[in-house]
Amino acid sequence: MQTQACQDLDRAHHLHPFTDFKALGEQGSRVITHAQGVYVHDSEGHRILDGMAGLWCVNLGYGRRELVEAAAVQMTELPYYNTFFNTTHPPVARLAEKLCALAPPHINHVFFTGSGSEANDTVLRMVRRYWALKGKPEKQWIIGRENGYHGSTVAGMSLGGMAPMHDQGGPCVPGITHVRQPYWFGEGQDQSPEAFGRACAAALEEKILELGEDKVAAFIAEPVQGAGGAIMPPASYWPAVKAVLAKYDILLIADEVICGFGRLGAWFGSQHFGLAPDLMPIAKGLSSGYLPIGGVLVGDRVADTLIEEGGEFCHGFTYSGHPTCAAVALKNLELLEAEAIVERVRDDLGPYLAELWAELGDHPLVGEARSLGLMGALELIDPATEERFDKALSAGNLCRDICFATGLVMRSVGDTMIIAPPLVITRDEIDELVCLARQALNETARRLADQRVAAPTDALHSEETRA
Ligand SMILES: Cc1ncc(COP(=O)(O)O)c(C=O)c1O
Repeated sequence: MQTQACQDLDRAHHLHPFTDFKALGEQGSRVITHAQGVYVHDSEGHRILDGMAGLWCVNLGYGRRELVEAAAVQMTELPYYNTFFNTTHPPVARLAEKLCALAPPHINHVFFTGSGSEANDTVLRMVRRYWALKGKPEKQWIIGRENGYHGSTVAGMSLGGMAPMHDQGGPCVPGITHVRQPYWFGEGQDQSPEAFGRACAAALEEKILELGEDKVAAFIAEPVQGAGGAIMPPASYWPAVKAVLAKYDILLIADEVICGFGRLGAWFGSQHFGLAPDLMPIAKGLSSGYLPIGGVLVGDRVADTLIEEGGEFCHGFTYSGHPTCAAVALKNLELLEAEAIVERVRDDLGPYLAELWAELGDHPLVGEARSLGLMGALELIDPATEERFDKALSAGNLCRDICFATGLVMRSVGDTMIIAPPLVITRDEIDELVCLARQALNETARRLADQRVAAPTDALHSEETRA
């Protein structure tokens, strides 16, 4: 199909997620046709290094025949059956066992969903059910974080702290509130990172006391905020939060949808930070995005209560534990393990990226360059003032579009540029990624200096910067 024909169909009938429909209609979508390894290809013949692993999910990279074959074998044998009404099947039972073997030792059960958002709907219900069964139904409040992301269903967006989402389609689910995020570059520079981390934990404690300590059920957070801007908390943050939660007997939900399956150089972000969460929503890297599957890893404290005292748990999805998705996820985990990919991120690729990425911190447009494992962020600043750019300049979007035209997918969150490449990326490909990022920064600086008011759509179609 020609680019134009595909764009016309798309424009006529397709409403894209998180998109200004009208603006995209005028501009036309980039058509991605195929992919291999860490590269995606578009319909115009461009090869683009996928610095975002799709949407933080293609951990094993593109084109893995083993995953295709696992799907084909399972689809031939049993393409679908549900897990309601006391039925199961081998792939889901094996996947459940494998996940529990990889998770921290106090986690021995998993509830399957079709996505990360559904996983967070599930934790909301589990947490409230748990406290009701414990004879404390008044423990209802769930505390999330401003600028946290937990999905786009009504429960997911309510647990998340994205104000633009709350403004559309509200009101949010009652009994959910948010505290400040541990975003030192954006909100904490008047203190040392360590003092700021402790201040954020103190804000959580204040919120608990304000709501009433016997009324708070759980705290939900990503170990490292992903969609909010790849925000790595100061080292003091998680130990201080853990102490607060223990003091008031509040459950911890660590949303592992992005951090899980090797992104930070551990199977789960919680292991990197030494957390022992009661619940861990998962998705994305669970199947390397090849098929949609998510779930909740449930710690013994909650699982034992639901099992022993709960009776029927009135919740589930048609695709909970879908056999083909489960077979692909299982094969994905086996490959991550057999190829020691998580260890490679921890011992080799993560430190290698960190070294090169930090050098981008010297670029005049960059106020901070940070990374952990294979996740990184650049904070764009105006070299003239060393402050953020005027929002009207949309510097982040301009840089993102220039990146695309340069041959690199780098995402923008406001003026924060983020990467999370496939975990199978090689050192040479990391060299290329960092080199493309620098070229794109140079071009962004030039365009901003020349124009001060840039039009992102011009950059999207610009070929002048293609490497
Ligand atoms: C931390 C986190 N939780 C939940 C979700 C929602 O997952 P999904 O888009 O599969 O519903 C996301 C998606 O980006 C996420 O980053």
